[in-house]
Amino acid sequence: MKTIAVILAAGQGTRMHSSLPKVLHPLLGRPMALYSIEAAQKATGVRPILVVGHGGDQVRAALGEVAEYITQEPQLGTGHALRQTASLLRDRADNILVLAADMPLLTAETLARLVQAQGSNAGPLTMLTVTSADQRGFGRVIRDPAGRPQAIVEEAHATPEQLAIRELNAGVYCIAAGWLWGALERVPLSPKGEYYLTDLVRIAAEDGLPVQALAVEEAAEAIGVNNRLHLAEAEAFLRQRVNQDWMLAGVTLLDPASTYIEPDVVIGQDTVIWPNTYLQGKTIVGRGCSLGPNTIIRDSRLGDSCEVLASVVEMALLEDHVDIGPFAHLRKGTHLAQGVHMGNFGEIKNAYLGPGTKMGHFSYVGDATVGPNVNIGAGTVTCNYDGEQKHHTEIGAGAFIGSDTMLVAPLKIGAGARTGAGSVVTKDVPEKSLAVGIPARVIRKLEKRG
Ligand code: UD1
Ligand code: CA
Repeated sequence: MKTIAVILAAGQGTRMHSSLPKVLHPLLGRPMALYSIEAAQKATGVRPILVVGHGGDQVRAALGEVAEYITQEPQLGTGHALRQTASLLRDRADNILVLAADMPLLTAETLARLVQAQGSNAGPLTMLTVTSADQRGFGRVIRDPAGRPQAIVEEAHATPEQLAIRELNAGVYCIAAGWLWGALERVPLSPKGEYYLTDLVRIAAEDGLPVQALAVEEAAEAIGVNNRLHLAEAEAFLRQRVNQDWMLAGVTLLDPASTYIEPDVVIGQDTVIWPNTYLQGKTIVGRGCSLGPNTIIRDSRLGDSCEVLASVVEMALLEDHVDIGPFAHLRKGTHLAQGVHMGNFGEIKNAYLGPGTKMGHFSYVGDATVGPNVNIGAGTVTCNYDGEQKHHTEIGAGAFIGSDTMLVAPLKIGAGARTGAGSVVTKDVPEKSLAVGIPARVIRKLEKRG
């Protein structure tokens, strides 16, 4: 049995009060719609169809190839939205799994259960329901005296008795394609001027066909994000889910409530994460690291046994046993080799620091290649920008850069060379030489130190 998912995402999302289409609002750093797209893809094994309308071009551009797109124009309700896929899907699938892009907490497992349930249903439709005292504006499930689902009544059209019903329509269905397309033609226009997908339940029941209801196990899965309160609620649940998975996999979170781990992040065993720490994008962290408190690491790769304290790390590569912070900023293109130490108030950009190199205090290193075991004294600056262009600095193995040295690039400091405190170096310094002053002059050759 082949199942294809259709994800509804054409609505305006009026209740968000936003210029950004609702389904692109980020949750844990990625557009909301990606969650339902990935869950649907996983449950069905094929790329889902996304029905877009409001901000459709923006949605396509942001999400790309993860889905196939169909445009609904104008937007005349959820039933009308599904009808737009008829010509595309008519002969392509046995079952259509329908869900909405504003349901980021739905899991692939729940969707797979729904598909499976419909597989053993004699009737044409299985729907997901949730039982909750917090009705959230959901449609109410109406059952006949024998307990069979008979209809879904939207909150706006419900009688006081119906409003009291706690069995709610989650808005997720698995429907036999052989029945669906014809039945959609029979959905009437509602008094609100929309074609409600939910009318399919009544149509099936009136034809004497059994409708099956499958309850979601965790009510949070059915959260539909209609406004920014729901957005915050969904984010909290998602974050909790991600954090729990990492804790169960051997990562210590001292305070999960203030730990923000995005879904694509990977963390090694025995890493400890302190409060108020953000691991973002495609960050990969090795084993036995200590991260935070008060740290942001984005799109970076850290080896094993690294320590990052109260720092910001972006698009950087740290090998094993690197320690940075407090108050360090690593920017794009930073590569710190094994055992590098970078202390407080430093910044590194587009630079390589060799194994064992130390940069303890208040320094800026940009557009540079620094050899192993170099000591970069407090307040050192690579003056890489002349107002028009960026220039490169090279520092050889074992060099000792005195405190407050200005390295005016392009510049080469030879292996084992030294610069005096406060010097402004404008010309290359040969290896094993000492340069001092403003501008710096080489004053002597250095004896080999035993
Ligand atoms: C819908 C259900 C309701 C259910 C709830 C669960 C209907 C009529 N109601 O209500 O029973 O309890 O979901 O969350 O189906 N959309 C389109 N085109 C349109 C209209 C909507 O693509 O013309 C999309 C929206 O972008 C959204 C989804 O369909 O992703 C659901 O629409 P929404 O307006 O959020 O419906 P609810 O009021 O939540
Ligand atoms: Ca909704």
